Amino acid sequence: MKIPILDLKKQYASIKKEVNSAIKEVVTNQDFILGEEVKNLEKEVALYCNAKYAVGVASGTDALILSLKALGIKQGDEVITSPFTFVATAEAISLIGAKPVFVDIEPKTYNIDPALIEKKVTRFTKAIIPVHIYGQCADMDPIINIAKKCNLRVIEDAAQAIGATYKGRKTGSLGDCAALSFFPSKNLGGFGDGGMVTTDKEDMADAIKTLRVHGSKIRYIHSFIGMNSRLDNLQAAVLRVKLKYLEKWLNARRESAKYYDERLKDMPVVVPYTPSYNTHTYHLYVLRVQSGLDKLTQFLIDGGIEARTYYPIPLHLQECYKDLGYREGDLPESEKAAKETFSIPIFPEMELEEKDFIVNRIRSFFKK
Ligand SMILES: Cc1ncc(COP(=O)(O)O)c(C=O)c1O
Repeated sequence: MKIPILDLKKQYASIKKEVNSAIKEVVTNQDFILGEEVKNLEKEVALYCNAKYAVGVASGTDALILSLKALGIKQGDEVITSPFTFVATAEAISLIGAKPVFVDIEPKTYNIDPALIEKKVTRFTKAIIPVHIYGQCADMDPIINIAKKCNLRVIEDAAQAIGATYKGRKTGSLGDCAALSFFPSKNLGGFGDGGMVTTDKEDMADAIKTLRVHGSKIRYIHSFIGMNSRLDNLQAAVLRVKLKYLEKWLNARRESAKYYDERLKDMPVVVPYTPSYNTHTYHLYVLRVQSGLDKLTQFLIDGGIEARTYYPIPLHLQECYKDLGYREGDLPESEKAAKETFSIPIFPEMELEEKDFIVNRIRSFFKK
């Protein structure tokens, strides 16, 4: 048996008719740029995330960049974030000329540790970007309290976590704004790149709408320097079909996670931890071992199971951030997690036999 970390072909097969006809409609109308599908998707995602506004952009990375720009963050400012994330989180901060300041993670959720944030706040700090890693929310209330106290903005990096809730509140509605990604492998993935910013603030939504079209509200009148970062109408058409199934798909992920949890908890692996304030979306199902990570993942790969470590090098130790001056040992929990964690396949359409196959392979590794 061969089990990929994610099988998008199965998902496509399940919605093929509907999605093909949505694409055909856009092509028939030749309505490609900021068309009706984008407008409708923006309304539907805003509603889904319980936010007042949603603005479609070209990617999750752009959603972060445009959020930072709309909040007025600029060269010389500092933005606090987690080092245990995909590079895009910090890259967005760097690309607008600001400096990422990394704060270590909680070892159980892999999310930024709120208790460590305040001592990294300086007079240059302007914002915090908590990342909802692997599909569950960072502990937002203490983060928002620090932000209020220190007059900082909060941008949720919800690229991996659309549909997750924190104390009953949806991602996308927890900070000043949130960045969503529609990269194909995400909980809600398009047929290419795409992203969205959600916010309750009208001025922020307005600024992002202007920024995504070259800083222009009226054709050929440019109030400030923007960029070309629009969500394709074709992508929006695909995403509108998929959004209808999102809750069902998230529930299927949760069921699979429960299945794994129950069958692996007596093994020497740490199964994902979900604090009582969260509902997890299991964008990824991440296990942890104290030692032997490479041997175990290789054993799974040899058995036809795609297992992978997200993220093997925390951002503060990446070559591209060597000028920031971090050393090994500076953010120990992130460094440890990078050496001890790995993901096994999880996607809504997984068959029972596939899950059993994976569980049995892990069990047989420890029985060797
Ligand atoms: C945590 C996180 N932030 C940001 C991004 C960037 O999203 P995109 O690939 O849509 O630019 C990703 C996804 O790849 C991500 O996982």
